[in-house]
Amino acid sequence: MSDSGAAERPPLLIRDLAQVASPGGRVAPLRGADLGTVDVVDEAYVLCEGGKVSAVGAMRDLGPLHAEVEEMDGRGLSVVPGLVDCHTHACFVGDRAEEFSMRAAGATYEELHAAGGGILSTVRAARDAGEAGLVAALDLHVRWMLGAGTTSFEAKSGYGLDRDTELAQLRAVARAGGVATFLGAHALPPEFVEEGPAAYVAFLIAEVLPEAAAIAEAADVFLERGAFGVDDARRYLEACRDAGLVLRLHGDQFTEAGAIPLAVELGARSVDHLEATGERGVATLAASDVTGVLLPASALFLGRPMPPGRALVDAGAAVALATDFNPGSAFCESLPLVCSLACTQLRLTPGEALAACTVNAAHVLGRADRKGRIAPGFDADLVLLAAEDWRHLAYHLGGPVVHDVVRVGRPVSSGRA
Ligand code: NIG
Ligand code: FE
Repeated sequence: MSDSGAAERPPLLIRDLAQVASPGGRVAPLRGADLGTVDVVDEAYVLCEGGKVSAVGAMRDLGPLHAEVEEMDGRGLSVVPGLVDCHTHACFVGDRAEEFSMRAAGATYEELHAAGGGILSTVRAARDAGEAGLVAALDLHVRWMLGAGTTSFEAKSGYGLDRDTELAQLRAVARAGGVATFLGAHALPPEFVEEGPAAYVAFLIAEVLPEAAAIAEAADVFLERGAFGVDDARRYLEACRDAGLVLRLHGDQFTEAGAIPLAVELGARSVDHLEATGERGVATLAASDVTGVLLPASALFLGRPMPPGRALVDAGAAVALATDFNPGSAFCESLPLVCSLACTQLRLTPGEALAACTVNAAHVLGRADRKGRIAPGFDADLVLLAAEDWRHLAYHLGGPVVHDVVRVGRPVSSGRA
C-alpha cells in the first residue's frame, strides 16, 4: 500500500455516484450520539488531485474541469471512505486449518494454546519462513484486505518472539505500507518457559525494543491468563512508551485481568477485544481517552460472547472496529463483514459501524487528520460500493459489496482482488 507518485498523476473524477457517505463532523474520535452521524450527498461526485480529495459535492454543482481529467462512472454505486483496519496480525505464514477442525470438534482456543499449539504454531512457521517468506505471505494478505476495501492497515509482530523474527515482521509490515506494532509480548516463547514471563519481558526490553522502536509506531501486549499479567505488561509498556511508541493492549478477551485500568493508567491509545468486559470496565473506558477496539469477527470465530458494543457507545466511549485478521482467532480480512457483525451482534447502527472502521480507526493509528473521511484535503482513499445505498456496506452480509477501491487517487482494481 505505497503512497508514492501521487503528485504526477492526472486528476480523477468519480461522477454520477448515487451517494457519497462520510462520517459527520470534523473531530476524531467520534463518540456517543456523534458516532452515528453520517454526511450523505446524493447524486454526487468526488474529485481527486495529487492523491487527495480536492472536492466533493452534488453533480449539479460540478463546475468546468481540467481537460486531462480521468473519469470513473459511479452510476448505481455509492462511496464511503477507504476502510482502516487498525488491528490485524496479517504478517503470518501458513494456516491453522487443523486447529480450526479441532476447535469445531470441541477443543478450545485456550487449551490449544496451553498445549503448545495456537499462537506458538504460527511462531514456528514464521521462524521457518524467514523474512522473505513473511514478506510474500503479507503481500498476499494485503491484497486480500485491499480487495475487501481496506486502504490502510496496521499489523503486529508477535509471531517471532525472538529478536530476528520480530524485527523481520516489523520490517515486512512497514515495507508493505502498513503501520507496524511491536507485539513482542504476545506469548511466552519456548526458550523462556523455564525463566518465565518477567525474564522474557526483560529480554524484549533490552534486546529487541531498541531496534523495534525505530520501525514500529506502537507497542501491544496480550494481557490475559496464560499470557502476560499486569506487572509484566506494565513494565513492557512503560519501556515501550519511553522508547517513543504509542501503547495498545489486547485486553479482556477471555477474562478481566486488569487491562482497562492499566490502559487508562498508562494513557494507552487503545484497548482491544473486550469480550469479557463488564459494567465497571465499560464505565472506566467511557470516562477515558482510550479507544475500545471491538473485534466481533474474532468473537464469532471462537464462539465467544460479543463485546458490549452498544453499552460502550451509549456510555460515551470511543470505539473502533477491526478484523483482528490472524490464522487462529479470526481468519477474516473483511471489514464489511465486521460492519455486518457490528450491526447484527453489537447493535451498532450502520452509521456507527462506518465511523468505527474509518475515522475512529484512523484515530487509533494517529492518522485521523488525513484518513477516514471524504473531505477536501483528506487522502483520496475510497471504497465504491456495489449499491446505491451506502448502508449495504453493513447490510450485505458477506456479499460482494466492494465494487472498486481507490487508493491515493487511483483505482486499485476492478472488483474484488
Ligand atoms: O487477537 N489473542 C491474542 N492474539 C490474537 C490471536 C493470535 C493467534 O491466534 O494467532 C488475537 O486474537
Ligand atoms: Fe489481536
